[in-house]
Amino acid sequence: VTLEPCNHIGRTGPCSQALVDAGVRRVVYAQRDPNPVAAGGAATLRAAGVEVEGGLLEDEARAVNREWTFAVDHGRPFVTWKFATTLDGRSAAADGTSRWVSSRAARVDTHRLRALCDTMLVGTNTIDVDDPLLTVRDEQDRPLARQPLRAVMGLRDLSADRRVFDDSASTVQLRTQDPAKALAELYSLDRQHVFLEGGPTLAAAFLEAGLVDEVVAYVAPMLLGAGRPAVGDLGITTIAEALHLNVTDVTVLEPAAPGDDTNLRLTGSLTFKEG
Ligand SMILES: NC(=O)c1ccc[n+]([C@@H]2O[C@H](COP(=O)([O-])OP(=O)(O)OC[C@H]3O[C@@H](n4cnc5c(N)ncnc54)[C@H](OP(=O)(O)O)[C@@H]3O)[C@@H](O)[C@H]2O)c1
Repeated sequence: VTLEPCNHIGRTGPCSQALVDAGVRRVVYAQRDPNPVAAGGAATLRAAGVEVEGGLLEDEARAVNREWTFAVDHGRPFVTWKFATTLDGRSAAADGTSRWVSSRAARVDTHRLRALCDTMLVGTNTIDVDDPLLTVRDEQDRPLARQPLRAVMGLRDLSADRRVFDDSASTVQLRTQDPAKALAELYSLDRQHVFLEGGPTLAAAFLEAGLVDEVVAYVAPMLLGAGRPAVGDLGITTIAEALHLNVTDVTVLEPAAPGDDTNLRLTGSLTFKEG
């Protein structure tokens, strides 16, 4: 098994005791359970005379369970920041229009990534300006059966007729401007993977707080010359202070239909300075 059999009663009883009761004589697991509430299963098994081996391919197992492991280790959800930008770093034109900066292939790809997370997070102004539905849909625009939680962060009251409040998925408003508090609230709701979709103001707040764990950038071959920056002011005044993306993947997204653009998807992580 990938994870050390648990030793606690959660949605189901303790797995380690179930294995003992079932007469299993040898258990091999990859990843030690980092969750203090559930840990200790290996000891229970050994005490019952079961042969136990742990830690085989532990790094690989942690990678398979990346977001869950991160959330348990850090006491907050893993944050993937996704944004779409033009070549000159704009997220919207001067008149506020932003549909569509990214290509159809990039939008389909975004839905694939949304489906892997359990929460989508945007700022209140994106709800006011774009009125997004924030659901996960397939290539035919049909909603998937399992929908992540829709979370909106900010202090203002939002109009109840915004599409994010429809009944196609659950929605919470996080009435704070503090990224750490928002993540703590989401963790208390058992959330482990937040897909931060902007806009630029909210993204800048998470970057300034060092609370972005993964970046997914869609770059469109488009120039606007003016308009909203892809990310708000980070307080960086000199090139030596730039945040660098440690790129782990570059993928060319070919046009999905005639007339569609070719987009680039860059994935990576950032190294934040302490303090
Ligand atoms: N290209 C992309 O990937 C992308 C993605 C999303 C949006 N957009 C575009 O971005 C534009 C909206 O961007 P935006 O930056 O104005 O909106 P935003 O980041 O969605 O929301 C900004 C609002 O969030 C609240 N907020 C929460 N935490 C905050 C903090 N720490 N600091 C400051 N404000 C905080 C504030 O409202 P309260 O007063 O309510 O607290 C603030 O006005 C739209 O044009 C949209 O189309 C682009």
